[in-house]
Amino acid sequence: MSNGLMIDKKPAVLLIEAIMRIKMKPLVKITAVAFLLGGALCWSAKADDATQLWDMNCAACHGKDGKGDTMMGHRLQIKDLTDPKVQAALTDAQATKDIKDGITENSRPKMKAYGNKFSDEQIKTLVAHVRSFKSK
Ligand code: HEC
Repeated sequence: MSNGLMIDKKPAVLLIEAIMRIKMKPLVKITAVAFLLGGALCWSAKADDATQLWDMNCAACHGKDGKGDTMMGHRLQIKDLTDPKVQAALTDAQATKDIKDGITENSRPKMKAYGNKFSDEQIKTLVAHVRSFKSK
C-alpha cells in the first residue's frame, strides 16, 4: 500500500522528535520539520477524503465503522469489515471488483456498481479505507 493511508501519525511525531534531538543548524532543523509536517498534513487530508467518501456513499449500509451494524446492513447481511477473518478472505482485487462492478446475488443486486461514479484512484482509496477497519 503506497498511498500512506495505513500510516499512523505517531511514527511521524517520533521522527520529528528524533530530528529535534539531532545536532544540526536550526534552519536545517526547521526545514526538515516543516517538510515532515507538510507530509503529515497531506496524509490526513487523504485520510479525510477516504472517510468522507466512505461516510457519504458506503456508511448507510456498512456503517461508519465498517461493522455493517445498520438497518440496511442487517437486512443485507453485510459482513463485519473489522473482523480479521473477513479481511483475510477479501483480496484487494476482489474488493476493487466489488466496488467497481457491484455485487449481485441470485441475479438480484445487493450492492450497486460504483465504477462509473468513482475514479480508479478513488476506488483505490476506498479499498485502503476498507482495510483500515481491520481490528488489530
Ligand atoms: C445498499 C447497501 C450498500 C452500500 C451503499 C454499499 N455496500 Fe458494499 N456491500 C453491500 C452488500 C450487501 C455486500 C455483500 C455482503 C458482504 O460482503 O458484506 C457488500 C460488500 C462489500 C465489499 C466486499 C466485502 C467482502 O468481505 O466480501 C466491499 C469491499 C464493499 N462492499 C465496499 C463498499 C464500498 C467501498 C461502498 C461505498 C462506495 C459500499 N460498499 C457501499 C452493500 C452495500
